[in-house]
Amino acid sequence: MSSFTLASVLRTLILLASITPGAPSPVAQSSSGRLESRTNVLPLTVNTIYQADVPTWHENLAVRANGQLLVTRMDGPILELIDPAATSKTPIIINNFGSAYAGCLGITELGSDIFYVVAAAPFGSDFVKTSGNSSVFKVDLNTFAADSNGVVVGNPIITKIADLPTAGFLNGMTTLNVDAGLVVIADSLNGTLYTLNVKTGTYNVTIDDAKMKALSTAITPLGINGVKIRNGCLYFSNTGNPIFSRIPISSTTGAATGSSSVVATVLQSDDFVFRADGTAWFSQNQIQCESVVKNGMTTLVAGNSYSTTLAGVTAGQFGRSKATANILYLTTNGGLAVPVNGSVIVPGKVAYIDTSSFA
Ligand SMILES: *[C@@H]1O[C@H](CO)[C@@H](O)[C@H](O)[C@H]1NC(C)=O
Ligand SMILES: *[C@@H]1O[C@H](CO)[C@@H](O)[C@H](O)[C@H]1NC(C)=O
Ligand SMILES: *[C@@H]1O[C@H](CO)[C@@H](O)[C@H](O)[C@H]1NC(C)=O
Ligand SMILES: *[C@@H]1O[C@H](CO)[C@@H](O)[C@H](O)[C@H]1NC(C)=O
Repeated sequence: MSSFTLASVLRTLILLASITPGAPSPVAQSSSGRLESRTNVLPLTVNTIYQADVPTWHENLAVRANGQLLVTRMDGPILELIDPAATSKTPIIINNFGSAYAGCLGITELGSDIFYVVAAAPFGSDFVKTSGNSSVFKVDLNTFAADSNGVVVGNPIITKIADLPTAGFLNGMTTLNVDAGLVVIADSLNGTLYTLNVKTGTYNVTIDDAKMKALSTAITPLGINGVKIRNGCLYFSNTGNPIFSRIPISSTTGAATGSSSVVATVLQSDDFVFRADGTAWFSQNQIQCESVVKNGMTTLVAGNSYSTTLAGVTAGQFGRSKATANILYLTTNGGLAVPVNGSVIVPGKVAYIDTSSFA
């Protein structure tokens, strides 16, 4: 491609896909690159629930049945709880996994109020592990309680389930099979999928697919990132290759049962989540945007590359009650991965978007 690198082409696409400050309406970018105007009421409003200090990297989140948010941190191996409905939004520390770990990433529920969390071994700027093991911990919140001042009066039960010495950089995690105790975990560095049995602690790489790898030209060497199961398929985002893909998966082994296919083009995606209607909502950490894939078409719905509104948005989860089913809770790192305009870093936050107007 002559003197143009793919990275510079991607940067151009990012500029095209961004909402220019003051522009009346955003554009939708189809997987073929065609641009269309759209009449949804966009951008959607981003509402801050809690804002931390600089630097704080909120990495991922899960919603408890009671509506509280469990937030993993990447600037330290911390799991914290934030209650969007409480007067005080100050986080309660659920656990610090200790100095053997650099941070926490994926989180998924398997069993009522029992969550599994990825704790990452220390790693270098190339995301290669520098010591120890990455591990998965069980966090049982059935014994957890806090008083109205946020003081913990009942401790969670925390157990290490497995060390994964062969893993590169474990990232997104989701539940594959509740009865069998299976979760799947993205290894972003190796571009593979692990299946872990949380009852036995055994694990294997069960899918190794080309669409899970980063391109050699990517700004970070991270491929498969977010993972979700829907209609018998594993859906996965890829940070270092602008594709959103799926592959049929066995719910009893975690192995592929068919070949992979690309669903849509999504630039520099971190994690993503499905809304109940099947639309997929992507947190584009490295370009400060939230976009939606609907019928193979990608639409920017909040944030833009020049704005701190969603600086470093990492992951989203929808509420679980009828009232919050269209509320998308989001975590951000304030631009710690890629600063806004190359230099602006703001406090990481936990925020929400009411997505009801995006039909
Ligand atoms: C990594 O985990 C394996 C399996 O539990 C263990 O044998 C090994 O000692 C661990 N390595 C480090 C550096 O902690
Ligand atoms: C994953 O990547 C790391 C770092 O490059 C490497 O040391 C490790 O062997 C890889 N794991 C597997 C299962 O290939
Ligand atoms: C991983 O492979 C081993 C050996 O084939 C098998 O016994 C185990 O059940 C597998 N674990 C998972 C989680 O698939
Ligand atoms: C980023 O740069 C653009 C273009 O110069 C400017 O409009 C915008 O305000 C800047 N954003 C921040 C957060 O400084």
